[in-house]
Amino acid sequence: MARIIGGIACSHTPTIGFAVDTDKQNDPSWAPIFEGFEPARAWLKEKKPDALVMIFNDHVTSFFFDHYSAFALGIDNQYKVADEGGGERNLPPVNGHGPLSRHIGAGLVADEFDMSFFQGKALDHGLFSPLSILCDHDTSWPIPIIPLTVGVLQFPIPSAARCYKLGKALRKAIESFPEDINVAIVATGGLSHQVSGARAGFNNTEWDHQFLTLFEKDPEALTRLTIAELAELGGTEGAEIIMWMIMRGALSANVKKLHQSYYLPSMTGIATVLYENEAIDLPFDKGEQIRAEINHQLAGIENIKGVHPFTLDASVASFRINQFLHKLVEPTHRQKFLSDPETCFTEAELTDEEKDLIRRRDWDGLIRYGVIFFMLEKLGAVVGVSNLHIYAAMRGQTLEEFQKTRNAPNALYSVAGKQGLDALKWGEKK
Ligand code: FE2
Repeated sequence: MARIIGGIACSHTPTIGFAVDTDKQNDPSWAPIFEGFEPARAWLKEKKPDALVMIFNDHVTSFFFDHYSAFALGIDNQYKVADEGGGERNLPPVNGHGPLSRHIGAGLVADEFDMSFFQGKALDHGLFSPLSILCDHDTSWPIPIIPLTVGVLQFPIPSAARCYKLGKALRKAIESFPEDINVAIVATGGLSHQVSGARAGFNNTEWDHQFLTLFEKDPEALTRLTIAELAELGGTEGAEIIMWMIMRGALSANVKKLHQSYYLPSMTGIATVLYENEAIDLPFDKGEQIRAEINHQLAGIENIKGVHPFTLDASVASFRINQFLHKLVEPTHRQKFLSDPETCFTEAELTDEEKDLIRRRDWDGLIRYGVIFFMLEKLGAVVGVSNLHIYAAMRGQTLEEFQKTRNAPNALYSVAGKQGLDALKWGEKK
């Protein structure tokens, strides 16, 4: 079974990435940042964990307010570096630990944390600033990651208590992963800082040190602080230290502190801490029981004929073709698709199998491949095929045979809007 070997908590200010990219190791103003991170960096090199859970917040780079989530877990197999306005940092993409991330996702939902899940997104300095100082990364990264973003920018945000509870659920999920691997948890953010409004530049070193002591010895006490109290003590943006509470909740009650440092060069109190886990094995292996709890809601669904659950695994495996079909909601893409599908297929880098499924309008084959039905009805609307045609084809029936099973046998419909309805003849568009 997987085990958590320790946790690192650190700031994620862009200053850190800037210091790495401009080789400021020997500059007196910047050297303390590198010195602060060095023990954690050396520990990762020595312990070589098989996966890093990276807890951070996006800074309205890849996650905008058109859809903002409290807890979003990355389930992808790779993550690129985001462009935050001045071009991407010169860093290679980092691999994700897909199987563990999807197991954690299922585990957290089973524990009543209704997570959101993401893939195909680039990640910003919240993750790559600390990662780039913690790990060598000339052409690739040494450890696959599981990114967990916390929406700390648009109130209401999760409380410190909620984050601590999420950490406990995270521990349970990781410790029930059936592979014998070591996992470390990196929490980022803070410490005290404020970048917005007339209080910009606010720091509270005394509180930062008090926080570090409580965080190590009595994290439960911190869960009683409200977001407003945390903002008063550590600045509006400093309240992002609630993300540290997830890491602390995932570690054992007793931890061995190997390192702690604090440096305030400019706007943010930059802290690094390194704890080794001191979990004591239970006399019984609880992994199988927890995995059964995680699988409880879907147990047996595979035995229902004609049901194809769209799981996290299916979603990742078929992301490219689902994304291609989803793009049909854009008028220019669907026009291009109708006039020159082969070029569209090539540009989207679809596989031969995926191209073939779409060319043949193999509705049931698409479902079996992992395309969700709601992409089929979009494709149907674009090419002039009704939902009823698609339902019949998936059942292996003619439209007439299927229509006879309906109470209103003449009803035909689709999601085609104005453009689609004008041209719709309930047959294939040429
Ligand atoms: Fe931040």
